[in-house]
Amino acid sequence: MVKVITYGTYDFLHEGHIRLLKRAKELGDYLIVGITADGFDKARGKINVQQSLMERIEAVKKTGLANQIIIEEYDGQKIDDIKKYDVDIFTVGSDWIGKFDYLNEFCKVIYLDRTKGISSSEIRANKQIIRIGLVGETSILTKFKNECKYVNGVSISGIHTESKVELDDELNQLADSNLTLDELLNISDALYIASHPQKHYSQIKLALEKGKHILCESPIALNPNQFETLIQLAIEKKLVLMDGIKTAYSLAFNRLILLIKSGIIGDVISIDTTCTSLIDIGPNGEYLKPHTWNTICWWGPTAILPILDIFGTKFKSLQLSTKFLKDHTEFDLFTKGSFIYNNGVASFKVGQGVKSEGEMIISGTKGYIYVPAPWWKTDYFEVRYENPTNNRRYFYQLEGEGIRYEILSFIRQIDGFYSYSNISTEISRTIVSIINNIVVGNNNIIN
Ligand code: CTP
Repeated sequence: MVKVITYGTYDFLHEGHIRLLKRAKELGDYLIVGITADGFDKARGKINVQQSLMERIEAVKKTGLANQIIIEEYDGQKIDDIKKYDVDIFTVGSDWIGKFDYLNEFCKVIYLDRTKGISSSEIRANKQIIRIGLVGETSILTKFKNECKYVNGVSISGIHTESKVELDDELNQLADSNLTLDELLNISDALYIASHPQKHYSQIKLALEKGKHILCESPIALNPNQFETLIQLAIEKKLVLMDGIKTAYSLAFNRLILLIKSGIIGDVISIDTTCTSLIDIGPNGEYLKPHTWNTICWWGPTAILPILDIFGTKFKSLQLSTKFLKDHTEFDLFTKGSFIYNNGVASFKVGQGVKSEGEMIISGTKGYIYVPAPWWKTDYFEVRYENPTNNRRYFYQLEGEGIRYEILSFIRQIDGFYSYSNISTEISRTIVSIINNIVVGNNNIIN
């Protein structure tokens, strides 16, 4: 029996793929098709693949041409596969001529003519571009705009801002048109909102009423009633309303959560997170830039996220202690939160007027995970045990601080490929209600 193997991504399976698979099959008796894993595509810089691995596998399966489907996950795997499956012929399209000659040592290599005039890239490019309008004053908007360049199918339509101070030259120019929110909505399919949280509710409501999808820097709203109104509106109008916390989309963070759920440190008993960044405060304790977010809004969602991800949203109690800016009870400089759950405890510290080590430690019955500062944009963490020889270090590429994948998740939800984001509605809701405790004064005050 002659065994043939071929590899590809097969995003939006098209005629070119099918012709290639047919000819590959005709080269032998048994065809193995290797399909690239999502993580492998990302690692080699192909981040725009739009269909998930499962969707791509299903599409290849449906052709009925593959006798066996395998997943390609790492560099150098082709040699392993050829040996493991006792392959006689390796084949790919002529766009790869020469690239796989090194495999001649293990089997015969055949390049088949590529079908002209069709490719997954073209199909992706022809899909409708989603025009995203930017709203707000913070420097995150500049990062967001830059990261959009890595994602197919999105463009920036304009910006509605009340201050250009923190924006880069490109956004400053865009801001010269002084668009009102209404005008911006007229030229956009979706909004990315990074305005002061006090404005989120009215801005999101208006945008949803006008039929626009929303990605909003967390928190979506400042009180639970507003949150429920917005969620209901989004459901009724079949629009995406997504909470923006970039850490939720960083590869290292996602792998860390999966490792914990697989039991690598036993049962988790305690989680401690810290996020701080000092801001300018005048000699008499006075403040500052008018658009600066208060601390619980700026850092709270990120600091709370791992706790809710790991322990869930049903805690028994939460005690909050806050130090406010002098004479400004709406502006917290520091907050410490202590959660008690049935099966564990957790704490978070957030500060803009208090500095600390920005690390995260997750303690379990068999060991602990240490994520060095700044843990919320880390590419590295360590799993540590009583016996240090068992310790393991994990490294992951951090591209665009997670923002790139956050944008990708947003447009995939708009396209209807995904029905959920990395942050569940229940987690968004809980974040809003925790922040609301500080807004309404349900906290201990540190003098
Ligand atoms: N292929 C082909 N003819 C085409 C497109 C692809 O023969 N018009 C072949 C490729 O040479 C490869 C296989 O199909 O052997 C899978 O290719 P893949 O990279 O998944 O498809 P592309 O359409 O080339 O994707 P992209 O545009 O993202 O590079």
